[in-house]
Amino acid sequence: MRSRDIVIQTAVPIDTTEPHGCCGFQRLNMENHEYSAVPLEEELDHFATMYKSLPEHAERDHGSYSWATSQAFFLSYRCHCGHWGHEQMTEKRVIVKNGYNKIAREYQANRHIFDNVGVLKEFSNCLPKNARILDAGCGAGVPCARLLVQAGFEVVGVDFSASMLKLAKKSVPEAILIKEDLTRLGFRDNSFDGLVALYSIIHVPREMHASLYQSFHRILKPDGVMLICIGSDEWEGEDDYFGARMFWSEYSHEEAVQIVTNAGIQIISGKHLMIGGERHYWILGRNRKHKLS
Ligand SMILES: C[S@@+](CC[C@H](N)C(=O)[O-])C[C@H]1O[C@@H](n2cnc3c(N)ncnc32)[C@H](O)[C@@H]1O
Repeated sequence: MRSRDIVIQTAVPIDTTEPHGCCGFQRLNMENHEYSAVPLEEELDHFATMYKSLPEHAERDHGSYSWATSQAFFLSYRCHCGHWGHEQMTEKRVIVKNGYNKIAREYQANRHIFDNVGVLKEFSNCLPKNARILDAGCGAGVPCARLLVQAGFEVVGVDFSASMLKLAKKSVPEAILIKEDLTRLGFRDNSFDGLVALYSIIHVPREMHASLYQSFHRILKPDGVMLICIGSDEWEGEDDYFGARMFWSEYSHEEAVQIVTNAGIQIISGKHLMIGGERHYWILGRNRKHKLS
């Protein structure tokens, strides 16, 4: 089977958290553009085959992913993910998701206050040409996903806020955007050369940070590069944010460094940076699939 011949499509391609997102799988004949239904067992085989052939068949169409490639990537993700239904989110994550859905426009309008060009350049310099990067908690896609696409990288953005993703779709149409919770990333092992998480881990309940970094370790290739921005000091709580209820959860940076290292990611550099009037701890790390000493 050639990857252009048959593509399986969902009814709601970028939404993996909607219960209906898994319905309506179809086979598309790329020659005559006709759809037909396929049984689930057969779909799973197609997903697996398509995924395996992706690197060779990752075609580009006018500088962006061809529709077929992005769909195949998305669906292989779903296939590996395994959860076709909807897992109940805890209250804390619901606050964050609803909050960003409410304030997406205000957030984007104020995003320029935080200038991350320097750190992103440092990250980019560690990556191979044509690297595939996951932007974990990509938000509205600016500046991070857009800068990385402009630098020539393939970018996959994940965020659970539909409103933020809607803005990202406009700002970075070249990126593959997936609506998903960071705590249940279903990508295959060794999927990415790089991973960035800017101002997003601070919203994930800290009791989930260890498993989050373990999943980063799993989906990053050996020697893959990670850039994250986390809290400087231990704190957990809620506050008003652009008129919405918001939740943050942070370990001290010393504890976070330990958890990241325990997950198998070696620290290249860790530093406090004051950007846009806010102090965060920035970690640049390299994934080690062998045991760290
Ligand atoms: C402060 S914004 C940062 C967005 C972007 N990284 C940036 O630098 O502008 C935090 C983003 O993380 C997303 N986020 C927070 N927790 C998440 C989770 N558990 N799963 C997916 N996205 C999450 C939010 O929806 C929001 O878009």
